[in-house]
Amino acid sequence: MAKPRVQFICQNCGTAHTRWAGKCDSCGEWNTLVEEGTGGGIGSGPAAMRSARKGRPVTLTTLSGEIEEAPRIVSGIGELDRATGGGFVRGSALLIGGDPGIGKSTLLTQAAAALAMRGHRVVYVSGEEAVAQIRLRAQRLNAAETPVELAAETNVEDILATIAEGKRPDLVILDSIQTLWTDMADSAPGTVTQVRASAQAMIRYAKSTGAAIVLVGHVTKEGQIAGPRVVEHMVDGVLYFEGEGGHHYRILRTVKNRFGPTDEIGVFEMSDRGLREVANPSELFLGERSTKAPGAAVFAGMEGTRPVLVEIQALVAPSPLGTPRRAVVGWDSARLSMILAVLEAHCGVRFAQHDVYLNVAGGYRISEPAADLAVAAALVSSLTGLALPADCVYFGEISLSGAIRPVAHAQQRLKEAEKLGFAQAAMPASGEDQNGGNGRRAFQPATLSDLVVRIAGSKRREAED
Ligand code: TYD
Ligand code: MG
Repeated sequence: MAKPRVQFICQNCGTAHTRWAGKCDSCGEWNTLVEEGTGGGIGSGPAAMRSARKGRPVTLTTLSGEIEEAPRIVSGIGELDRATGGGFVRGSALLIGGDPGIGKSTLLTQAAAALAMRGHRVVYVSGEEAVAQIRLRAQRLNAAETPVELAAETNVEDILATIAEGKRPDLVILDSIQTLWTDMADSAPGTVTQVRASAQAMIRYAKSTGAAIVLVGHVTKEGQIAGPRVVEHMVDGVLYFEGEGGHHYRILRTVKNRFGPTDEIGVFEMSDRGLREVANPSELFLGERSTKAPGAAVFAGMEGTRPVLVEIQALVAPSPLGTPRRAVVGWDSARLSMILAVLEAHCGVRFAQHDVYLNVAGGYRISEPAADLAVAAALVSSLTGLALPADCVYFGEISLSGAIRPVAHAQQRLKEAEKLGFAQAAMPASGEDQNGGNGRRAFQPATLSDLVVRIAGSKRREAED
């Protein structure tokens, strides 16, 4: 019999090392190596697989052929179904990640209740909370009377034996993956080996029976699903549940989806009765807007297929420091430096003596370069002290040469803006007929200096009017 081998597994990336070290060579993280038994690590398989076995040929096939639509279980919670791409897919595994306390268990309790009410068999397995706690939450969510089957259990074999009884469940929720452990692996619960082996067992169960499973995963401070990053590769879909402390809204963001689009979001609001769907996020993000203050510009953005209007706020103030401060919340700070550089180099707007603060209202995060124009407008507005027109939206990408470049989905952005009462738009010029013949006043600057001139000239125009 082979001598049991000891391995050191990185708890961050899952790489197996033969010797302990302070730093993982693979991902560069410090203090993440933990001694675990054999059988773990990337590249190793089940013990039975490692003994030599003669292979069995499989039938090769072609790329073309019949395609089946993924069979889905629709929850009826519109924002959740949107993020999953139209409902949970039978026989698939979905990972929902998020910070502790963000509302993952709340969301899944609501989803479980909604599905159970529609006649699906739903099993909710919690490894974190006692049955009484879950019941208390269900009561608060008005879901206590729904036929959801509940268990507080952490052992994978016991869970599988439990759900094998009776009709095959349509959905199994495991809250959370970090608490699960299986007899197949001999490391402590919560280690990469255990999490991976447990997830693998549950995914195998899903694939073989056609039940949909949802795994809940906690996220570390650095924004990674703690330890088991490896789980992300194994599942069919990854959703992140995000929110900012102090704000009530939550965003369910699709990061990976083998059965649908990956750029969708679902928007919710946390209330004392659970999560409420927000069908029109723009109204939420533009909620308490003061229209007369300089430094605020409304950005017409897109989240997946969905237009979202958000306010971008800039504060440019004289700096007492040799190296002025640049602080950004909700946007990329490198991108801000770029816009500042373009404004300085091509438009003669100087920020060298000023601190610059940029904030995206409502704790929202923007990743689109289309926000460039709105950021530039907010910066110039704050520097000059001239408020931007209250009924104007901004979008467009700025190139290093100072040119305004077109962005996708202009029509959709404009439509959303119009719906919310914005009569003007500053945006890139493009071939399309942007006005759509409905009387909107579109300002299409070719370069950033055109926009600066327009903002700086707004005072004079006001005086003339
Ligand atoms: P929870 O779903 O337990 O978070 P997670 O599973 O992601 O750790 O939600 C925890 C928070 O949500 C908690 O601070 C209380 C709050 N909450 C409400 O505000 N309203 C509600 O109806 C519920 C059930 C929770
Ligand atoms: Mg929870």
